[in-house]
Amino acid sequence: MRKNLVAGNWKMNMTYQDGLALVSEITNMVADEVGGSGVEVVICPPFPFLHSIGKLLTAGGNIHLGAQNCHQKESGAFTGEVSAKMLQSVGVEYVILGHSERRQYFHEDNELLSQKLKAVLAAGLKPIFCVGESLETREADETFAYLEKQLKEGLFHLSNEEFDQVTIAYEPIWAIGTGKTATSQQAQEVHAFIREQIARAYDAEAALNTTILYGGSANAQNARELFSQPDVDGGLIGGAALKSRDFTEIIKSF
Ligand code: 13P
Repeated sequence: MRKNLVAGNWKMNMTYQDGLALVSEITNMVADEVGGSGVEVVICPPFPFLHSIGKLLTAGGNIHLGAQNCHQKESGAFTGEVSAKMLQSVGVEYVILGHSERRQYFHEDNELLSQKLKAVLAAGLKPIFCVGESLETREADETFAYLEKQLKEGLFHLSNEEFDQVTIAYEPIWAIGTGKTATSQQAQEVHAFIREQIARAYDAEAALNTTILYGGSANAQNARELFSQPDVDGGLIGGAALKSRDFTEIIKSF
């Protein structure tokens, strides 16, 4: 079912001590509101902090735990990797997949991401699947064709039941960490387009029920305007998720 959701992607930031302090601040600031507001909050810290932060979140209220990546295989000789099942065993509920940084720096393509999606779903976890175009693609007027391909190859191979578990995040690469946010019209236009593609690949009900987040320099100042768009259901937040006040202001923007 479609919901309002704000997820914080910490990326490779914070020490364990900083992370614990940040989460305590966030839980203190939003505990009451998150419970009653219907907004789902997800925090995605780096792997080593997941277990302890998960415990803090369970104690602090209605905030959920997410991971930033996982390996596509269930187990085995893959030194340095982390499986979906491992994540599930420490209390993770969501896994970000297909972030543009993973696609760009770690060469994750739609084929690999399809396998990761299957692994996440098989472990009973919920994927937050990222799509988004580069500045070059946008300027060449190829945004929609590019997104259509990302969705078709990366995501639409899932069955209806599997797709029900997916949250999509639209993150234009040119807006990530640049301070250059998409305008609310640009975000709305793409989100509506994504919903249309879902209706085509699945059905109108699936399109209506899919949560679609915006990510890319979203902050306490622009969140309200972005979230007021009919097809923007929340945000995947990077930099502003590292500051308790900014992150909680974003949560309160609904
Ligand atoms: P910023 O909010 O720092 O632009 O990052 C967005 C993002 O990549 C979240 O996954």
